[in-house]
Amino acid sequence: MPHKRHTQFRKPDGSLYAEQLFSTEGFSSDYSLLYHCHPPTRIIRTEAPYDVMPNIAEEKMLKHRSFEGFKIQPHADFLKSRVPVLVNNDCHIVLAAPSHSLKDYFYKNADADEMLFVHEGSGKLLTQYGELSFAYGDYLVIPRGCIYQLHFDGDINRLFIVESFSPIRYPKRYVSKWGQLLEHSPYCERDIRTPQQLNTVDEKGDFLIKTKKKGRMYHIHYGHHPFDVIGWDGCCYPFAFSIHDFEPITGRVHQPPPVHQTFEGNNFVVCSFVPRLFDYHPLSIPAPYNHSNIDSDELLYYVDGDFMSRKNVTRGMITLHPGGIPHGPHPGSVEKSIGAKETKELAVMVDTFHPLQLTIEALAIENEGYTMSWAE
Ligand SMILES: [Fe+2]
Repeated sequence: MPHKRHTQFRKPDGSLYAEQLFSTEGFSSDYSLLYHCHPPTRIIRTEAPYDVMPNIAEEKMLKHRSFEGFKIQPHADFLKSRVPVLVNNDCHIVLAAPSHSLKDYFYKNADADEMLFVHEGSGKLLTQYGELSFAYGDYLVIPRGCIYQLHFDGDINRLFIVESFSPIRYPKRYVSKWGQLLEHSPYCERDIRTPQQLNTVDEKGDFLIKTKKKGRMYHIHYGHHPFDVIGWDGCCYPFAFSIHDFEPITGRVHQPPPVHQTFEGNNFVVCSFVPRLFDYHPLSIPAPYNHSNIDSDELLYYVDGDFMSRKNVTRGMITLHPGGIPHGPHPGSVEKSIGAKETKELAVMVDTFHPLQLTIEALAIENEGYTMSWAE
């Protein structure tokens, strides 16, 4: 790295490295500076784009819904394995069961930051910034525009993905005005894993970057390997955070969902429900109260453990409790919860401030009868 940004930085043969500013919100927010062996601009070929917009089946609805996430079929190709199930203009909720590594091409989401929650499987996320090893329970947060590949260790992999059309950030109330995670945050910088092992690949050839923009996939071929970065610094980069490193906030009485908040984007939040001790007031009720979410849709993705407030929960299940009708524990679960000391539940929640729409693929994995399941 040169001592000064935007100055000459030469290779051993005397030619210049190519500096790239990777900036957000124009030039007015976080950015990184990357130094490439070759300019990142050398397009050698393009192909006709094709449509990858979600297939909307229900634009408007007012019903409690439940979906079997693990019924999404595995697919060898990473991009084809990704199935959008619930979407709005702020985020897309996508399920994926890729059975093979993404090695034949590179992928870039030009529209959305991506949060990949690893439910099953392990491997490495490869980027221009270096590698991130991942395993069960990891959130991988990938800024839009970041070129990546995913190399899996095995063929059984399950991902819960949020594509966010605004930057995915730490909750604002947990960040000091100068940018540090505060003492009352349920996690801190030490829990954030940054890319390691920057392997510079200085290779010429035909390298395809499948690039998604505005619901279309563009196949753009470059004359150099995109991972030709010799060094970088800055504050815009992919990172990993394990849900198992989220420290639960508990209290004498039931704590509201914001204590579980992990990330936020415009008009949605991501929360982590992790194993924790229950409320310790002598008359406390561990099960959640009935709740009218009058201005948000609540989506819960069940990962592992027991779910004391719901019946018939399976791994990978999604429940959707739309704003407008109250939801709460299933019959019997309130009394049953009294006296319980702890929960082993592990779940990811996404609350959206605008309604979600259902895709054709969501209807195909829906559990019928969920709406009436409180009346049983
Ligand atoms: Fe709720």
